[in-house]
This record gives sequence, structure tokens and C-alpha cells, in this order.
Amino acid sequence: MDQSHIRNFSIVAHIDHGKSTLADRILELTDTVEKREMVSQMLDTMDLERERGITIKLNAVQLIYHAKNGEDYLFHLIDTPGHVDFSYEVSRSLAACEGAVLVVDAAQGVQAQTLANVYLALDNDLEILPVLNKVDLPSAQPDVVKEEIENLIGLDCSQAVEISAKSGLNVDKVLEEIVDKLPAPSGDANAPLQALVFDSFYDSYRGIIAFVSVKNGVLKPKDKIRFMATGAEYEVIEVGVRTPKEVIKDQLTTGEVGWISAAIKNIEDVRVGDTITHVNTPAKEPLKGYREMNPMVYCGLYPVDNARYDDLKEALSKLKLNDASLQFEPETSQALGFGFRCGFLGLLHMDVVEERLEREFNLDLIATSPSVIYHVFKTDGTMEAIDNPAALPPAQNIDHIEEPYVSAEIMVPKEYVGAMMDLCQKKRGEYVDLQVLDDIRMLMKYELPLSEIIFDFFDKMKSCTKGYASLDYEISGYRESKLVKMDILLNGQIIDALSTIVYKDFAYHRGNAMTIKLKEIIPKQQFEIPVQAAIGGKVIARTNIKALRKNVLAKCYGGDISRKKKLLEKQKEGKKRMKMVGSVEIPQEAFMAVLSMD
Ligand code: GTP
Repeated sequence: MDQSHIRNFSIVAHIDHGKSTLADRILELTDTVEKREMVSQMLDTMDLERERGITIKLNAVQLIYHAKNGEDYLFHLIDTPGHVDFSYEVSRSLAACEGAVLVVDAAQGVQAQTLANVYLALDNDLEILPVLNKVDLPSAQPDVVKEEIENLIGLDCSQAVEISAKSGLNVDKVLEEIVDKLPAPSGDANAPLQALVFDSFYDSYRGIIAFVSVKNGVLKPKDKIRFMATGAEYEVIEVGVRTPKEVIKDQLTTGEVGWISAAIKNIEDVRVGDTITHVNTPAKEPLKGYREMNPMVYCGLYPVDNARYDDLKEALSKLKLNDASLQFEPETSQALGFGFRCGFLGLLHMDVVEERLEREFNLDLIATSPSVIYHVFKTDGTMEAIDNPAALPPAQNIDHIEEPYVSAEIMVPKEYVGAMMDLCQKKRGEYVDLQVLDDIRMLMKYELPLSEIIFDFFDKMKSCTKGYASLDYEISGYRESKLVKMDILLNGQIIDALSTIVYKDFAYHRGNAMTIKLKEIIPKQQFEIPVQAAIGGKVIARTNIKALRKNVLAKCYGGDISRKKKLLEKQKEGKKRMKMVGSVEIPQEAFMAVLSMD
């Protein structure tokens, strides 16, 4: 199709404002998916996405829209995630588009991620089309929210469409606006090929499949191509699009978004953000890639069964293809054996990766408690970046430690400002600013340690504001803090995977809470187990897990052997996700105990 009849766009919004629902309606209205095949949240293909009701991975589909002017348009719709952990995916999908439909919940108004996503779209020079969703709700105030968008973002909303993605009201108008207001791609089909790789995944039959947005030139089967950043060369086998079913095409031309396969087996060759060009008539330069996102949270992942180390390694490599922000490197723990130190964008990201590894690769994993990256300045004048508390040098070699801080923007209704300030204070936050947004809401700005944010800040924020506050943050830099390493000893032995770095003034409290929590979580065993928290060899808290096992059988007074077996069997089942560490069996939850304290 002629480029002037192509529209590549994303839908961006704050979480739960209705992107996926709008995408569903668009697929229906354009008959891309037949009614009988329609399941809700069509683009959320991962089971995990459906179960949690959130979008994790971006998805690109091609559809044909018969516009009211009688002409056909080719749309490429790229759905994006809304959670702050996945803003990386958002920036990737935006780089493949010319426009963005900004969905704002007419009952909730502009939220922190609405702003963050608008800025990402503006960074990518996209045209933004504001749309007010959920106008069917009695609490919807489209006029108020329009004014808010104009004031806060500076977008003209005089013609913004008011829709209900749920009922389908006015969704057809959004499609017309996409044709009228969003620009067509403006590449040159005769220029050397430049195709932006914005996603990829591993298919066991065809090798790596790369999703591309063709910015210039034409891409066909049998073409000899080169990945400009890695230098890898291949011959294209197939090209195609998703509708959302996979459809094979004879070419992808300028302005189109689709996938290519080239029997690529080497995972390192395909990098998201790279540009594909032809070997014989190469483009002079690669396209502008996008901002690399650095992981902010690290944890160790270990197979429960040590023999599956290689499987975990392979699974991580394959997952990384599909999730470029994931990082990992081998690590060993005295307690847990061989595993990997993995870097994530946030806690939700970490959770999702762990769950995908378990489901898609059938692995049983132990994850250690998450940590941020600390800058440790040593007495010899050198600095070491530490993402694993167990690797902290001895106290006498440390001059001081710096930790990452974030600039946080929190939008909150006035009545919860007090509660929110208390929470920020408790989390070592430093007040920066408080602005009135409108009659109802305020914008709070705080500097906060990242380590406090990643733990339970979201949950605490939700509960103290009844879910009405929204948060966005970015790393602002490193600051010196009074930090110490807290070790946990079980049965007198330090368990390296349970060590954490804590703020000194919180150490006593956390040590206490941690030992109590571990006592609850670790099942009673044949012998009594002392649980201790210690700083630099000095015990600051202690409790005991009493011995038990005999008691399980004690009830059956000798006699009935089958009943005895059953009881022992039951006990074994409860042990599934446990790791034998020295003489003590530790369940997975123990390593996460640090997250659910205070
Ligand atoms: P993420 O993918 O997690 O970022 O969320 P999302 O923005 O895609 O939101 P989603 O489409 O999953 O919708 C969130 C919730 O709002 C769902 O329960 C929808 O049923 C509901 N919803 C979406 N659109 C409307 C609407 O127009 N009216 C009403 N009343 N509810 C809606």
C-alpha cells in the first residue's frame, strides 16, 4: 500500500486507563479478528498478562481500516505496557511509530504515568492524539479532565474524542482521527534498507524472529542482510506481519511493521534497537536506537535442583531476546550453589521474569532478596559497585557507602497528602516541593532512596491513599548513607543469600523483624535452630525455631504404617520449593522475607 495510507501508532496510557480494551475494540471494528475468535485483551498473549490483567510485552498487529472517505488504510497498532517497570518497552514501541493515541481515564484524570508516557512520545517526535475513556462511568468528568490535559501537558483537547472502550461508544471516531491527524511514515522506498529491530523472540523451529519497523527501503526473502551494530550477516528466509495471527508476505516495504526470520540461532546477533540493512547496498548509518535502560534491582536466581544450572542459563538467554532489559551473569553462593545474578528494571519486572522462567521453561527457582547497586568507597581510595550484599568488603576496608536516590513525583488527592508525607518521611524521603494541580489533587516531589522504593513503597502508597495516588520516578544520583551489612545466621552459620544492606538506624528493628519472620516461615525441623541477625559479627537479634519432626509421627502410636507414610509424604510435599542449606532446609519465601517487613 502507498505510504500515505499507512499509519503506525501506539496506544499509551497510565495503567488501567483502558489501552488493552481500546485495542480490542479497534481489532473488532476493523474485522481484524472475527467475533467468535475474540477473547478480551487480545493483544495480551502471555497467560501471565491475562491472569494479572496487565500488559507486559508490547505487541504489534497489522489491520486494514476502511475509512469514511472510501479509502483503505493500513494500520500498525502497537500495544504498550503501562506499569513504570516496563517503560522500557514503551520507548521501544514508540520508536517504531509516528503517532500515539493517549488514553486518559475520564474519571481519574491525568496520572503520573500519563505524563511519563507523554514525555516519552514527545522525545520520539510523535504526534499525540488525546482520547478520553470510560465516559460511561457516572464519575466521569470529561470536561474537567480535558482542561487538566491542556494545563498539565499543553495538548489541545478541544476536539478530543470521548469514548467508552468498554461499550465501543465513539471508537469509530478514534479510527477516523488516526487517519486525519496522525502522520504517515515518510521514508524512501528507493533508499538503502534501514529497518529498526524493536523486539525479538526465539522460535524453536525457525530460530530468532525479529520484529522490525522498515524506515527506508524494502525487505524481501533471500535478501542478504546485516545487523549494523553486531555485524552479523544472514539471508532472509521469510517476512510477514501479525494480524494478530502470523501471515507470510512477499515483502515488507517502507513504512511497514512486521517480522523476519533468517534461521538465526545465535542469540547475541540480534539486539533490540539495532538497524538491519542490506549487505550489498548498505545504509550509511544506523537509525537512532533508543535509550538503553539500566537495571535498577538485582537478585540471585538459583535452580532448586543444582543439576539444572545449564537449563537456567539457556532459559535466561532465550528470555533476554524477548526482554532486552534483562541482564544476568553467573554467581556462586555458599548457601545456594551455582546460579545467576540478574538485573531488573523493578520488582514487578523481577516477579514477571521469575514466573516466566518457571512457566515457559519449566524450572523451579529460588530467588534471593533484591538489592540495588551500592557504590562502596574503600579506604584504599578505590570504588566498587556492589549489587550483592554478600559481596560487600569487610567493614574495616570501607570508608563510606553511597546508595542510589530517585526523584519521585507523586500525584495524590489533597486529603491523603498528610498520609503520603508520613510514608515518604518514614522511607527516608527528603521533601522537595508540593504543588497544587487542581481543586482536588496535589503533586508532591520527594528525593527518596531507591532501596526504599523498590521494597514495599507501592503497596504502602496504595494502602495509605486507598489506591488514589500515582507515582513516577527516575534515578537522580548517588548519596552517602549510613549503611551496614546485616547477616543472618541459621544454626550458627551465616547464610550469604540472606544478607542485606540496611540503613543503620533501621538495623535493629529490621533484624528483629527478620528473625521473627524467618521463624514463621522456616518449617520446624528435627533439631532446634537458632535464628540470629548480626552486624559485623555482633548479634543484634535472636530467636529459636523449635524442633518438631518426631511429633508428626507421635500421633500414630506405632501401629498403622500406611498412615505414617501418608504423613511423611505430606511433609515431603510441603518441602518442594526448599533448598537444603547446610543442615537447614529453607523455603523460597525466606529469601523474600525482607520485602514484607516493617
Ligand atoms: P495495562 O495493560 O495493565 O496497562 O492496562 P490497560 O490500560 O490496558 O487497561 P485495560 O484495558 O486492561 O482496562 C482496565 C480496566 O478498565 C478493565 O477492567 C476494563 O474493563 C476497564 N475499562 C476499560 N475501558 C473502559 C470503559 O470505557 N468503561 C469502563 N467502565 N471500564 C473500562
